Amino acid sequence: MKICMIGTGYVGLVSGTCFSDLGNDVICVDSDLKKIADLKKGIIPIYEPGLEELVIKNYNNKRLKFSSNLKDSVSKSDIVFICVGTPTKKNGKGADLSQIFNVAKKIRNFISRFKIIITKSTVTVTTGDEIEKIISKKVPKKFFSVVSNPEFLREGEAIRDFYKPDRIIIGTNDKKSNNLLKNLYSPLTSRGAKYINTSRRAAELIKYASNAFLATKITFINEMANLCEKIYVNIEDISIGIGLDKRIGGRFLRAGPAYGGSCFPKDTKAIASTGDKFQTNLSVIKSVIKSNENRSSLLLKRVFNILKGKVKNKKICFLGVTFKANTDDMRDSSSLFMIPSLIKKGAKINYFDPTGEKQDFKKLKNVNFSNNISAAIKDSDLIIIHTEWNDFKSINFKKEVKNKNFIIFDMRNIYSSIKMKNKKIKYFSIGS
Ligand code: UGA
Repeated sequence: MKICMIGTGYVGLVSGTCFSDLGNDVICVDSDLKKIADLKKGIIPIYEPGLEELVIKNYNNKRLKFSSNLKDSVSKSDIVFICVGTPTKKNGKGADLSQIFNVAKKIRNFISRFKIIITKSTVTVTTGDEIEKIISKKVPKKFFSVVSNPEFLREGEAIRDFYKPDRIIIGTNDKKSNNLLKNLYSPLTSRGAKYINTSRRAAELIKYASNAFLATKITFINEMANLCEKIYVNIEDISIGIGLDKRIGGRFLRAGPAYGGSCFPKDTKAIASTGDKFQTNLSVIKSVIKSNENRSSLLLKRVFNILKGKVKNKKICFLGVTFKANTDDMRDSSSLFMIPSLIKKGAKINYFDPTGEKQDFKKLKNVNFSNNISAAIKDSDLIIIHTEWNDFKSINFKKEVKNKNFIIFDMRNIYSSIKMKNKKIKYFSIGS
């Protein structure tokens, strides 16, 4: 099939590349000329394991193309995916859909035969209705169909998630579009992926409800961890104990820092606003947002307690600063709050991240990037394990850290507290 992906951000680039790998002709189009020029040279703008090889392979066999010519790319395609950003509005309430509507206004000029227009970006309920209105001002209804097909890719696992999705959601009442999309996704459904056809609004809501539910699960276990810390119970026992109940499920029950990234914080706020717009108080989600926003201060207080209030001149090392492992993404990472707060209290920060030095900290005084784990932890008073990279899972702290009284605060619970105790290392974790 001939496919056009509008927007070569995370969603567009990963999905477009994978669709081409499944044998489709894909044009990824973006208004950012430099990005397109780089992609043609095999330079990938995001960090995603396995993506570079896949882009180069499919670009070389000419199934994957990159272009900044929207007219040409849309005109040639049967299916057009809209994959542009839907950030939080400047006032913090709801999603800013201006990029989506701008695309709809542009592409309506290039539709002269039947095309399926699909939103893959996360868009609030009724956005599909709006897009349909915009396009139908210039194009007869028989020439297009607007469908919602939300994506559920996780950063760092995106290629695996694309090929092995738990489900594919197609929001449309149009039979012709549904049949074409069933065909498009048949290489995945033939391997067991579930294909669900719903109304367009339902598909739009499924995406938000999924992210909000996962954010709720994480926040729930984080609050349980707070309680565990007071009553000397280990949160890992609770996660296993409740997760084995199939009605609850064991995934997304890892307690840790505040959830971050480009999706959960943005999408929980957007769905709460949608609730307000339709006079429905989504109070559970609102309290999840609040609890998560408070979590970084709570963990910071714990750092102060661990250091017995003496933060000034303490050498604190962060292992990992991104919002989670296997990504270089700093968006809404709790380190963005914690590191500047610790600096203000007089701490000296050293950090190492497998994805390199971060722009966000370059201008801060007393923040230093080390390019390997040993150098980062060498003189530390306190080592904070902030992300769960495999690189951090078997460090010989006793050998590497020269300061004998060093302390570890493992915010991802990747080490065993019993083993640490046996090694006589002062070790703190989440929820114990
Ligand atoms: C999330 C969803 O998992 C994807 O399904 C969705 O497609 C994506 O948002 C999106 O809307 O585009 P992502 O933001 O890449 O994916 O990251 P997750 O792996 O879901 O992690 C989000 C946050 O939750 C991270 O801060 C992570 O550390 C935290 N988390 C996750 C926990 O604290 N505990 C867990 O058990 C799981």
